[in-house]
Amino acid sequence: MSKRLYIETYGCQMNVADTEVVFSILAAHGYERTDDISQADVILVNTCSVRDNAEQRIYGRLEQFNVHRRQRPGVLVGVLGCMAERLKESLLESGKVDIVAGPDAYRSLPLMLQNAGPGAPQINVLLSREETYGDIVPVRVDANGVSAFISIMRGCNNVCSYCVVPYTRGAERSRDWHSIVREACDCFARGYKEVTLLGQNVDSYTYEGCTFAGLLRMVAEACPEMRIRFSTSNPQDISDEVLQTMAAHANICHHIHLPVQSGSDRMLKKMRRRYTREWYLQRVEAIRRYMPDCAITTDVIAGFCSETEEDHALTLSLFEEVGFDAAFMFYYSERPSTLAARKYPDDVPQEVKTRRLEEIIAVQNRLSLESNRRDVGKVFRVLVEGPSKRNPAQLCGRAGNNKMCVWEDAAHAAGDFVDVEVTGCTQATLFCKLVG
Ligand code: SAH
Ligand code: SF4
Ligand code: F3S
Repeated sequence: MSKRLYIETYGCQMNVADTEVVFSILAAHGYERTDDISQADVILVNTCSVRDNAEQRIYGRLEQFNVHRRQRPGVLVGVLGCMAERLKESLLESGKVDIVAGPDAYRSLPLMLQNAGPGAPQINVLLSREETYGDIVPVRVDANGVSAFISIMRGCNNVCSYCVVPYTRGAERSRDWHSIVREACDCFARGYKEVTLLGQNVDSYTYEGCTFAGLLRMVAEACPEMRIRFSTSNPQDISDEVLQTMAAHANICHHIHLPVQSGSDRMLKKMRRRYTREWYLQRVEAIRRYMPDCAITTDVIAGFCSETEEDHALTLSLFEEVGFDAAFMFYYSERPSTLAARKYPDDVPQEVKTRRLEEIIAVQNRLSLESNRRDVGKVFRVLVEGPSKRNPAQLCGRAGNNKMCVWEDAAHAAGDFVDVEVTGCTQATLFCKLVG
């Protein structure tokens, strides 16, 4: 009898892509996917360690999973991903977990599940220099069948001092471009209309002399009717060639996620980011030179070690200067064993971190609204994702610049491309009407 497998995914898009790889590996061993945890024989949670509150949430979930495990003997609970890699054996100490598998250990899951049971916990947290799961055809978990993630590399070779990712994901390695192009074409053949190429630092992609710009061009040309997105770009590494390639291919979306982290050179240096404020602003200028309509979004950290009010003011002024279209904003969360945890005291008081974060959010909310207002009157080609959550008479979908659009429409469905004109907005949404 086949076993039913339930997986919950936290963290970044790469974890979503990894969960699809895990479903694929386990489907080949007879595991059947279920979305109903109370029916599951195996409960897996793909985890994130990037900030402490991400981990706390998962501890809460493990308590819940343990209720199922106690009520239905035989149910196995496993922790996958970054927390598995960071915490290793210590996750087993609670007695609430049967399996601990790091991000490079997913091929061993069938065997681990077979051997696991009461008193026989299984652990594999070996990191690899080669594993890319390039040969595995992911089982897509998103319901709409419109947009797919394609992992193009794994790991990270940067050592940003605040960041746990290099420890949880290991060394950077790029996936064979043949398998990436094949996967993109396969997605298109199966009805997908958009792919997002994923890596922690896509601009350092390199495989047999092929750069990220080369890969982008190949994917864009192999699937000319498919939309291409990518994430994440590092300000240090994003090349003019990538910008030229984006400008030259109508199917590559004009959106760049370019995490800045701080507007202060002193902080950037301490964070071990390898660029300055000036360099960042020049990259923004280059993006706008090649693609005046390109959306630019960012990540930022408030209250990193020793951050002063002056440093913080520089972050606020950088936000104003760039006018980001959107941002993911966090306060600094010390991660054990990172360089910052070892070298710098986490000395900005929590209430100061929170206040600075709120100030950044307030500025960005206004900038997002201003950015959306500039789009009123424009016509965008939008990929329909499905009915709008707020109003089922409306459809929703993203424009090339990644902004969420909603409009009245009874004629189209998920997967269609439609042209809409923006008639109004909030800071989060463009209100539109169908044109043509
Ligand atoms: N590879 C990407 C970022 C991956 S982590 C890049 O280099 O841009 C996603 C975001 O989480 C980071 O951009 C950063 O803003 C945030 N982050 C990472 N570590 C953090 C920490 N210790 N505390 C708070 N935010 C953190
Ligand atoms: Fe973390 Fe820096 Fe690597 Fe991004 S580039 S994953 S922030 S170490
Ligand atoms: Fe989190 Fe790991 Fe992604 S720490 S952000 S799930 S790489």
